[in-house]
Amino acid sequence: MSQPPDVGAMSPAGPLGILLLDDEEAILESLEMTLADEYRVFTARSGEEGLEILAREQIALVISDQVMPGMSGVEFLERVEKHHPETIRMMLTGYADLGSLTRAINQGHIYRYVPKPWEPDELRLDVRRALEAWQLRQQNVRLASELAVANERLQRENLFLRREVERRYAFDQLIGESPAMHRVFDVIEKVAGTDATVLLTGETGTGKDLVARAIHYAGARKAGRFVAQNCGALPETLLESELFGHKRGAFTGAHADKKGLFELADGGTIFLDEIGETRPGMQVRLLRVLQDGEIRPLGSSETRKVDVRIIAATNRDLRAEVAERRFREDLYYRLRVVEIHLPPLRERRSDIPALAHRFLDRANAKMGRVLRGFSQSAMERFMAHSWAGNVRELENEIERVAALAGEADLVTVDMLSEEIGGPTRAPAPVAPGTTVAGVELDLNRAVDALKRSMIEAAIHETGSKSRAAERLGIPRQSLQKMMKRLGLGADIDEPEG
Ligand SMILES: Nc1ncnc2c1ncn2[C@@H]1O[C@H](COP(=O)(O)OP(=O)(O)OP(=O)(O)O)[C@@H](O)[C@H]1O
Ligand SMILES: [Mg+2]
Repeated sequence: MSQPPDVGAMSPAGPLGILLLDDEEAILESLEMTLADEYRVFTARSGEEGLEILAREQIALVISDQVMPGMSGVEFLERVEKHHPETIRMMLTGYADLGSLTRAINQGHIYRYVPKPWEPDELRLDVRRALEAWQLRQQNVRLASELAVANERLQRENLFLRREVERRYAFDQLIGESPAMHRVFDVIEKVAGTDATVLLTGETGTGKDLVARAIHYAGARKAGRFVAQNCGALPETLLESELFGHKRGAFTGAHADKKGLFELADGGTIFLDEIGETRPGMQVRLLRVLQDGEIRPLGSSETRKVDVRIIAATNRDLRAEVAERRFREDLYYRLRVVEIHLPPLRERRSDIPALAHRFLDRANAKMGRVLRGFSQSAMERFMAHSWAGNVRELENEIERVAALAGEADLVTVDMLSEEIGGPTRAPAPVAPGTTVAGVELDLNRAVDALKRSMIEAAIHETGSKSRAAERLGIPRQSLQKMMKRLGLGADIDEPEG
């Protein structure tokens, strides 16, 4: 006889319990002898006594005689099934009253029957197999309930994260006291409730990202996804596969089918950042999505409908790009159904104090500082600075100040970075609203001169373009472009290349 796999007759609480029921003492004794080595054995002489034991003890398996005075074996096992459904039921039968036996088996009241006289080894094997099944079932029940608990926790966490994100990107994260920003808020509020395509324009760091999210989370699509893709960050084929997906084998390295962001954003919003960096082929494909609401994965011959709201952003002058034929005019008009221009910070200086305080609160919380505000002259420097990196530059400056603030409770001029606080570098306050051509030209020159000296200083101090860009609060790419335009670069050594 082959041995069954030994799952063990032990439960975590000790040996498993077995109840034996027979009106004949001799049979009980010999059954007990067969099984007592491995299990905790209980014996009962009547159905009533058996039920009492079952109510009291942890019983995994019952073996009952078929014919007994009073409650019959079948009746007893029916009751066991009703009140202790997990308990495994076996029936001992001396002569075959086949009718009631088959009925009991067919109705599922018993797991199997043991003919009298029994072979002790065989009985042990039967019992083991039955208990193996019982243990697996118990384990299943436990795992299923653990799974249900884990699932529920995940769902709660998910909900929490979603709320967290919504809170982070809700409208009220956007700060602006200036009339210019109030006009922006009005438009956001109006477009959020629609599916209109929006084009966000404005210099780097003016809040295009934040506004895109605000539009999504303030509208009906907030239950769907918000996905963002920087169109300037990838070569064309990769960008195409990111946005539209690909079929397996569409190009070298496409090992499996992949869904694109347009499909992921179905029912939600896709944010196409740096749309001005896209090449003509991509512009044609985007135009098709905008016209037909259809995408075609790379390498696929089938198109798919998607329901996606598109928000695009650029810090380029797209109209000029159109004039120079670098950007398709038809796409431009499709994108700017609504255009929201985010004015540079220097044109809305009245926003500076509120922004500065918000960033200070945030930095205090993040770094455990106790800064309660800015000295008057520190705030004056902020109001006078040119903020080429806009809100991002202000945010970075305040984080830097807070990091170095120690126990100070007020931000003073000496704590500011040299570009902003340094007396020789601070530019004269600019009168807002100067539109006379000559004045504007001088202003531009002055700003360029300032940019030049700040860039030189930053590169010399930090030793690399990347770190200088970080210090200046602008992307490295923008710094490079700016340097090229200002005629800087060749004459500045850069250790990192
Ligand atoms: N109105 C605002 N209120 C509060 N925080 C703002 C505001 N505008 C911008 N910020 C913050 O300034 C930083 C830069 O903003 P954001 O990334 O949205 O700029 P962007 O226009 O997308 O810049 P880029 O063109 O470089 O991508 C972010 O940390 C953002 O949270
Ligand atoms: Mg951005």
